Amino acid sequence: MPRIRVLSLVNQFPHLFSPLQIGGVTLRNRVFSAGHDTTLPTDGLVNDALVEYQRARAAGGAGLVIVQVAGVHESARYTSHILMVTGDDCIVGYGRLADACHAHGTAVFGQLFHPGREIMESQDGSAPVAYSASAVPTERFHVTPCPLSRRLIGEIVDGYGSGAARLRAAGLDGVEIVASHGYLPAQFLNPRVNLRDDEYGGSDGNRLRFLREVVGSVRAAVGREFVVGLRISADELSHDGLRPDEVTAACSALDETGGLDYVNVTAGSSATLAGSVHIVPPMTVENAYTVPFAAAVKRVVSVPVLVGGRINQPQEAERALASGQADACGMTRALICDPDLPSKAQAGRLDEIRACVACNQACIGHFHMGYPISCIQHPETGRELRHGRRTATSRPRKVLVVGGGPGGLKAAAVAAERGHQVTLHEATSRVGGQVHLAQLLPGRSEFGGIIGNLAGEAERAGARIVTGAPVDLGVVKREGADAVVLATGARPRRLPFETEGSPQVLDAWQLLNGTDPPEGTIVVADWRCDWIGLGVAELLARRGRRVHLCVNGYMPGQRLQQYVRDSWLATVHRLGIDVIPLVRLGGVDEDTVYLQHTTSGETVVLEGIDGVVLAQGHESVTSLASELDALDDVEVHAIGDCVSPRTVEEAVLEGLEVAAAL
Ligand SMILES: Cc1cc2nc3c(=O)[nH]c(=O)nc-3n(C[C@H](O)[C@H](O)[C@H](O)COP(=O)(O)O)c2cc1C
Ligand code: SF4
Repeated sequence: MPRIRVLSLVNQFPHLFSPLQIGGVTLRNRVFSAGHDTTLPTDGLVNDALVEYQRARAAGGAGLVIVQVAGVHESARYTSHILMVTGDDCIVGYGRLADACHAHGTAVFGQLFHPGREIMESQDGSAPVAYSASAVPTERFHVTPCPLSRRLIGEIVDGYGSGAARLRAAGLDGVEIVASHGYLPAQFLNPRVNLRDDEYGGSDGNRLRFLREVVGSVRAAVGREFVVGLRISADELSHDGLRPDEVTAACSALDETGGLDYVNVTAGSSATLAGSVHIVPPMTVENAYTVPFAAAVKRVVSVPVLVGGRINQPQEAERALASGQADACGMTRALICDPDLPSKAQAGRLDEIRACVACNQACIGHFHMGYPISCIQHPETGRELRHGRRTATSRPRKVLVVGGGPGGLKAAAVAAERGHQVTLHEATSRVGGQVHLAQLLPGRSEFGGIIGNLAGEAERAGARIVTGAPVDLGVVKREGADAVVLATGARPRRLPFETEGSPQVLDAWQLLNGTDPPEGTIVVADWRCDWIGLGVAELLARRGRRVHLCVNGYMPGQRLQQYVRDSWLATVHRLGIDVIPLVRLGGVDEDTVYLQHTTSGETVVLEGIDGVVLAQGHESVTSLASELDALDDVEVHAIGDCVSPRTVEEAVLEGLEVAAAL
């Protein structure tokens, strides 16, 4: 019996786990981590943190790691922490990274990058000059670039070549020219962005000239054996972005000339809010939606075609490859979330895969805020230097975790993995905490996957989970715990506001738990400016209510990652939800809501209102913490919302930190 099981598992992903030849390099399998800026480097150079980050992906079985964008010219600094390949000082760090990955059989390519006009950040607070093919402004960052002179074009083209030579000297296996997402090579290609009347503008051939020169410069610098690839958005999905026919024509022309060993297909553009959503598509975007784009490119080129975009499970990747639409699958966030995904998939341990839920919180969310990337489900990511390896405890103890939300589950998993005897008590009938409600918001059902992932980790680690088991002082004493981790969470907060008569007022939790909202016109009073206000407003609008979404901030979703917020704002617009920014709730009577403008202090009155739904944040549940003050001989730690109401990310991180130190 076991033998038959093993054989069937081995055959589960025959395409994914077959080797792929790209130029002179053979990948051991077809799972790759696409280039992604980690914000780990300091001073523009590969450091220990980035080496350990990529080592973890290699050790987990990825066939290929493509290292994040690296600037090829001084004018390419699009953030204050971008890697640079403009000097020989980059070689040592890249070399260490390549050695770390090669030791696990993983190939390493490096991205060569110039953002053109897509400058996100300044180096010192003053706006740098951004360069592009022409002075066509970018809508997202409101940058009006300076047209590149021929001299600067020459310098940048040379920069691609010398950068590639340095990466070869460092021992990498290849380079990838980033022409995707509306960056500089795409700006030259795009007839709506490139308005030049010299040899770099006008006809298709002229607009392709810059990219041809870049490929030529790179190839001349690295020779024939070293891999040279191209990343391109097959559709920039923007009103003035590159269109599929323009992209396939460019790929076909480049392929005919030779010089490229692969094309890596993605979608979207940095230049517009709608297009940038596709740089890191949130959970509302369909899984593997870019695969047909790859198929279109594959039809016109002779080299392998790679693809990425919402491929978060090996089954998705296998389907894409088996259909012949692509030759390898980028599973970038999938590997941010679970670096061991390839080895688990290959070994048939599918239940153990921690699937990325495309929440965008700690990966691209951190990047946009200028912090090292991580994962809300796996805070070890980006913290490999500190949490890369679990250390067994030298002093196994009885640990009682109180509360089965994400933070409690993570604490239980890590403490049990380290050898403690762990019992988790959850007061309700199921673990998961607020995630159960969060997954009921429209378009957020995938978020619920977090519960199974974390509960599975805790169970596999040997933690005993007891549900329907509230904890008081007596239980703590009976359990004889040496240490207690309090993860008792939070409940809805009711900010004080005046009421008169008996207006229909619900909180978001009541609505999500099934209480019927009143018919007619509803005010959603959104203090947190996050998922809850937006989600509740959408839900009500879809149920036929007229909705005023009144936010105590600049806009709904102000505190959300940009791509998540912007796709949701599109829905808000489509559903005709009325948004009122910068207001706090003041009072409610039978049919009127009184708001106060937060900067002018003036009253805003909404009449003809049939009900109010509150999304006013949460307050910590702290009763047990106060009771435990009476115990001197028990070590007590509190994590997550019961300390201060925040999000899953902080709860899980604190669960890790506390349990790693027990
Ligand atoms: C934090 C982060 C940074 C990124 N930075 C880059 C980058 O440096 N270069 C690039 O080509 N794409 C970048 N991307 C896009 C990814 O390569 C990939 O296309 C995207 O994550 C979608 O694929 P996925 O659904 O498999 O995660 C980034 C993505 C993330 C999450
Ligand atoms: S933070 Fe969210 S989107 Fe990012 S890798 Fe983790 S689960 Fe995926």
